[in-house]
Amino acid sequence: DAADKGGYRHYMLKEIFEQPKALGDTLSERFAHGRPLEAVLGPDAAELLPQVRGVHIVACGTSYHAGLVARYYLEQGGGVPCTVEVASEYRYRDPVVPPGTLFLAISQSGETADTLAALRFARGSGYVATAAICNVPESSLVRESDLVLMTRAGPEIGVASTKAFTTQLAALGLFGMLVARHNRLDARMEKLYARQLLHVPAQVEKTLQLESAMIKWAEWFADKHHALFLGRGPSFPVALEGALKLKEISYIHAEAYPAGELKHGPLALVDADMPVVAVAPNNRLIEKLKSNLQEVRARGGQLFVLADPDTGIRSEPGIEVVTMPEHIEALQAPLVYTVPLQLLAYHVAVARGTDVDQPRNLAKSVTVE
Ligand code: G6P
Repeated sequence: DAADKGGYRHYMLKEIFEQPKALGDTLSERFAHGRPLEAVLGPDAAELLPQVRGVHIVACGTSYHAGLVARYYLEQGGGVPCTVEVASEYRYRDPVVPPGTLFLAISQSGETADTLAALRFARGSGYVATAAICNVPESSLVRESDLVLMTRAGPEIGVASTKAFTTQLAALGLFGMLVARHNRLDARMEKLYARQLLHVPAQVEKTLQLESAMIKWAEWFADKHHALFLGRGPSFPVALEGALKLKEISYIHAEAYPAGELKHGPLALVDADMPVVAVAPNNRLIEKLKSNLQEVRARGGQLFVLADPDTGIRSEPGIEVVTMPEHIEALQAPLVYTVPLQLLAYHVAVARGTDVDQPRNLAKSVTVE
């Protein structure tokens, strides 16, 4: 058992540290001349991709959060309309499918009952095609989808998903370029995005060095009952995933909010007993995020900020800042900022003595509705 864990105390920690390799594997041999190869989606991709004008993404749990990030990749970078929905809702909603829409299911296991049922529903619903991003080649989802992009995370044992999530984001970056090049993405930008994506494994490697800082943060969280995670734009799904990790394995009630919504409710909860984590990459929303953080400070909340070195956000009383190892671009940010949040959740759980790899009431793969 200890050998399987490669010397790590838990599978989850091993899997967090495997991310540079898992990401490298997921991206390798999938580019030529600085652009992604459409054949990575299978033999029918050349015929189907030029028809795609929009994407409906369906998934559960952590995979759903990956889908929420993908919407930014498709819409902001590529001009491709995109909706994202949890599978258990989608399948009962009678969704309207505009012409030229691709159905995309995201699933680590490829066996989640709600996601599979959504795929089967989608098959008869007028989509251009069905596509899957999945980590298990022999899964039902892979067998039943027209287009398939495999993540190459390797087996994930910890119930709380880590390397499966970041490899899904890498695959979605690639997928986004392949769809968007038939829409609003030009070749020059595509090459720039490809370069940025290929640099992510190295950035994640450096970011793992923030572990000791996250161990210090974890001391603050270990005896708390509630935590709030804030982000804006593509950092909002990163905040959602950070909160999910914390609640799954430490059993601390954690919620994520887009920071601009604070004033519409959660600000009422802020006090010294509820730590507030903020994801602060240097993007066009940074000044707005800074004023949202001031709102938290003014109410006596204790802030924990993961910040880009260029933001100028510095530690001061009430604000603990951990600076990312280098400037992270918008496309890279969801992958890289996720890593310290995984480490934070892990070390809070260890400090609380919970069963990190097998949290109570949860299963790795939910094969019943
Ligand atoms: C379960 C797992 C989660 C996972 C979700 C979706 O709830 O505990 O970690 O995100 O299922 O699983 P999938 O295999 O479809 O990605």
